[in-house]
Amino acid sequence: MNEENLSAGDILAWYVLAGVDETLGELPFGKEISEAGQPVVQVMQKPAEVVRPVGLSVQPLQESEEGRRPATTELAQATINACKNARELCQQAQSLDELKALVEGFEGCALKLTATRTVFGYGSPHPKLVLVGEAPGADEDRAGIPFVGRSGHLLDLILKAAGFDREKDCYITNVLPWRPPGNRTPTTAEVAVCLPFLRRQIELASPEAVILLGGSAANALLENEEPISRMRGKWLEYQTGDGRKIPAIATFHPAYLLRNAAQKAKIWSDFLRLRKKIS
Ligand code: URA
Repeated sequence: MNEENLSAGDILAWYVLAGVDETLGELPFGKEISEAGQPVVQVMQKPAEVVRPVGLSVQPLQESEEGRRPATTELAQATINACKNARELCQQAQSLDELKALVEGFEGCALKLTATRTVFGYGSPHPKLVLVGEAPGADEDRAGIPFVGRSGHLLDLILKAAGFDREKDCYITNVLPWRPPGNRTPTTAEVAVCLPFLRRQIELASPEAVILLGGSAANALLENEEPISRMRGKWLEYQTGDGRKIPAIATFHPAYLLRNAAQKAKIWSDFLRLRKKIS
């Protein structure tokens, strides 16, 4: 087939084969578009351009003596403002429903631009357990509910086998309420901006125990950099913003178990330890 004869469908199929399966914006990067909407000149992406989360109010920064501040400084300032904004919103929310509405209206995290839905926590508002994963995947992004894909089904089986009812006993959530494009690892800034929402969910749900599914959730909430293999297998403690100490368990993420079935015995022993303490 001659290149010029390629249809839009052929090109799309080629993109999918090459792994390009996410739309990140309406315009291509590194191209200039004429007023008529035609790409006209191919240019290098401007190095100093700041990609700023939409709707974020960024305080004007003092210009340094040498001229403009580097873009990274502006981005860091935008992240600091977004974190502050998230913390203030959290203080306004006196129930999980109120917090959900505030998170849905929050514009301080650019992940919202590429996600289909906001995936807020789901389950009992007065649960025995709060379970925390990393971020929604493709299935959760479509459904708007955490842990409904393959990992979610495995989690349901584990909970049931340990004698917990997902709907009655659990509130399930993630560090991030928006899916990172292509399931990439969340950045430190994205985690920092969204963390106040997670911490407030735990405060409002006030569970008997917190279950941290995987290293990312455990590192974010326990504020450490320990590998999950060193954190699991014992009782830990999570401290809420208002000073309450809640027993916590860090264990493997169900997605890891789908790839490493040999580790299932370990997550099972973690849930049995949990069952002994929380009946
Ligand atoms: N993995 C997660 O960490 N969270 C989900 O909601 C689904 C998969």
